Amino acid sequence: MQEEALNAIRGADTLEALQSVKTQYLGKNGLVTAQLKTLGTLTPDERRERGAAINLLKQILEAATQARENELRQAALEARLASEAIDVTLPGLALPAGGLHVITRILYELSDIFTSLGYAVVEGQEVEDETHNFDALNMPAWHPARDLQDTFWLENGQVLRTHTSNMQIRYMETHEPPLKIVVPGRVYRYEATDATHESMFHQFEGLVVGEGITMADLKGAIAEMGRAMFGKNARVRFQPSYYPFVEPGADFAIWWDQEQRWLELGGSGMVHPNVFRAVDDLREARGLTRIYEGKTGFAFGLGPNRIAMLRYGIPDIRYFYANDLRVLTQFRGDL
Ligand code: PHE
Repeated sequence: MQEEALNAIRGADTLEALQSVKTQYLGKNGLVTAQLKTLGTLTPDERRERGAAINLLKQILEAATQARENELRQAALEARLASEAIDVTLPGLALPAGGLHVITRILYELSDIFTSLGYAVVEGQEVEDETHNFDALNMPAWHPARDLQDTFWLENGQVLRTHTSNMQIRYMETHEPPLKIVVPGRVYRYEATDATHESMFHQFEGLVVGEGITMADLKGAIAEMGRAMFGKNARVRFQPSYYPFVEPGADFAIWWDQEQRWLELGGSGMVHPNVFRAVDDLREARGLTRIYEGKTGFAFGLGPNRIAMLRYGIPDIRYFYANDLRVLTQFRGDL
């Protein structure tokens, strides 16, 4: 039987054929198993001898089966490698490259300008409490200015920040002056959307606090930014305006020499004393020193969406956030 079984095993040319040979001899109802079952009828001496012989046969057949299985698997693998060989001379697929969003690129550009002037870049939370979005910015609940910014309220009484100015408070609350920061980020307004209004958009905030900071420093910072973004002939223009957290407050525009026109970019002003007082109150509540009263500083906030729209002739703010590749791929730039 051994010879016949070994021939059958070596002759199996597929794994399935091998499996059926294995079952035929070694399976539960196989020929070898059947022999083992006859042992009960023998005398103890015969049984020992015969049992050892059957077990040896079983081991030989198992080893042969395993060896044949390895051969078949190796052959299958070699066949597959041969059939799937890669032709490295074929031209590759042109995978589309990703890129930075046009607004991200403007925010990076602005951040680079201000870091070169010694500012730190700070980001902050978009879900905010009333204290940091309004109250500490000199906008208590009864203040009419709250209506200037239509607010998304969350069920828990928090808001989606209506401006990046919340980070003025958050930063001063935990850092001591002198300081210079800029804050790129998303803001939210509960407004009907149209070509120039979107319920989510971006802002870029600046805050400088120290001793003896004046409106001239504010003007210098904006002028520096204007020249870096719009060329050396850029000029700045300030017009009186009102924001509760600055006094005096001013809207600013930058002269875009190439297009011979003014770009209205944002709001600014000298930090209101009530803001410094509110920050000191928050610091005191944290066990920190009151350090802001008597300091001076300026703040500004501008709209990177507007810069991108004017610079690239994008007619509708909603294009920025619709994720339409026909729009996005035009502003891919370098990663
Ligand atoms: N937070 C103001 C806005 O969203 C902009 C601003 C920032 C004005 C800082 C003055 C100073 O309209």
